[in-house]
Amino acid sequence: MLIRLTLFCSLIMVASLVSGQTPWVVPSDWNAKLSRTSFTDQNRKTGGELYLTNCKSCHGDPGKNNVILLVPPPPDPSSVQMQQNSDGALHYKISEGRVTMPSFKNIVNSADIWNIIAYLRSFNKEYIQQTAPKPQFAGESFDKVNLELFWDAPNKRVVAWLTGVQGSVTKPIPSMELKLFAKRYFGNLMIGKPVETNEEGKASFLFPENLPGDSTGMVTLVAQLTNEEIFGLVKAESPMAIGVASNRPPLNEPRALWNVGLKTPVWLLFTYLTVVLGVWGSIFFVMLQLRTIFKIGQ
Ligand code: HEC
Repeated sequence: MLIRLTLFCSLIMVASLVSGQTPWVVPSDWNAKLSRTSFTDQNRKTGGELYLTNCKSCHGDPGKNNVILLVPPPPDPSSVQMQQNSDGALHYKISEGRVTMPSFKNIVNSADIWNIIAYLRSFNKEYIQQTAPKPQFAGESFDKVNLELFWDAPNKRVVAWLTGVQGSVTKPIPSMELKLFAKRYFGNLMIGKPVETNEEGKASFLFPENLPGDSTGMVTLVAQLTNEEIFGLVKAESPMAIGVASNRPPLNEPRALWNVGLKTPVWLLFTYLTVVLGVWGSIFFVMLQLRTIFKIGQ
């Protein structure tokens, strides 16, 4: 047992030593990635707030080197070790994490990771930002890509409209695959198959007739480009009254199932209390009987 424990401990030590020595390899496409927008004071401010809540506990106050004791140590944001990373490498490392460095891709969205990087870069006087070239598509470059959602009542279809803005001109973007989702309490429910935009930049989805909405039949729809390579994450969200009205009580209603103690539905509280009292009552009864037997024995 002792030998196994010692072996186990030394394995952990070796693992942490190895991870401290091996360089953190970033895939080359990530190494070269750049933010699409220039870092602004607003970005740095948002990034600073995110740093405070998510990173400071380990990486300390930038420039003070008051980092937490870990092996390998989390580098101070202003250190050479941190700043020698490319913008893309920082994004990759923050998203993916490694051993004791947590992965943030499910906690902080990609745009906010860029905000954190904007903040980290404010501690490097030599840093000059390079931004990614404007999104190019079929030989055209756009300042901005828009996605809109609307309900085509005569044809009973949900239409997502993808357009690109060039200066004052707005052009439809064809042949891009879009996915449609209905927002649910836990994640999104995909509706139908992905659809490609036509010459007008429109993708139309047949909406299922029996999809439950809230008590007024509202469903929040989310449309999103399948491929994020060309334009990044392009998304549109819009509530539409196209579902079937269902009077399932919302979870945030007072006294909903799965709510905190004080708001539990009365029937659930009652059942719970009856069961608890019943069990304790039986135990108490058995103890009393045992005591009687004991007394009789004496
Ligand atoms: C639980 C502690 C902890 C938290 C919280 C944490 N980190 Fe880390 N971080 C580490 C450790 C430990 C390392 C060193 C990991 C390694 O080299 O294997 C590290 C490494 C890094 C690196 C790579 C540095 C290099 O050597 O290239 C970056 C970038 C980074 N952290 C950024 C962040 C950011 C940004 C946040 C907040 C969003 C954050 N970390 C939150 C512990 C943490």
